[in-house]
Amino acid sequence: MMHPYKCQVCGETYLGETPPDRCPFCGAAGSELKKASLWYNRGKVAMSPQSYDNCKKALDLELNNAAFYKCAAGKAANRISQSIFKRLFKQELEHAKLLAKAMGIEVPALPPGECKGSDGENFVEAHQHEDMAIEFYMQAAADAEKGGEPEVAYIFRNLTEIETEHLMLTNLYK
Ligand SMILES: [Fe+2]
Ligand SMILES: [Fe+2]
Repeated sequence: MMHPYKCQVCGETYLGETPPDRCPFCGAAGSELKKASLWYNRGKVAMSPQSYDNCKKALDLELNNAAFYKCAAGKAANRISQSIFKRLFKQELEHAKLLAKAMGIEVPALPPGECKGSDGENFVEAHQHEDMAIEFYMQAAADAEKGGEPEVAYIFRNLTEIETEHLMLTNLYK
C-alpha cells in the first residue's frame, strides 16, 4: 500500500510503499523522509543576522547553480548527461526554495545561466560549483551550531550532504 512520506528537508511529499533512497525533489537522504504524521513544518526560521546572511549567500549560490545546470541540460549532447543536468537543476532550485522559505522571503527569479559548450567541460565546472558549495555550507553549519541555531545547522548539514552526492556524481563523468 502506498503511504505519504514527507521530506523533512524540503517539505515535498513522496507517495510509495517504502521511502525512496533519496528525496526525489531535493536529493536529501532517504532517512529524512518521514511518515506524514511524524513530519513537522519548519516554516520561517528565527535566525541571527549571521545565519540570515549565510542563508542569503546560499540562496544566491543555489540560484546560480540551478541556472548553470539548466543551461548545461539545454546544451547536453546525449540523454544521459541531459537527464543528470536536468535533475541537478531541479534539486538546486528546490534548495533555493527551502532556503527562501526558512528566511521568510519569496524565491527570487532565476538569473540568466552561463555554461560551457561541451558536457565534459560542464561536468568539470559542476564539480567546481559543488566543491565551493560544500565548503561554504560546512562553514555555515558550524557557525549555526556555535550560535546555538540547530534549525539552521540542520539545513546546512543536509545541504552539505546532498551537494557531496552531487560532487560524487560529477566525479563519474568529468
Ligand atoms: Fe526533499
Ligand atoms: Fe544545492
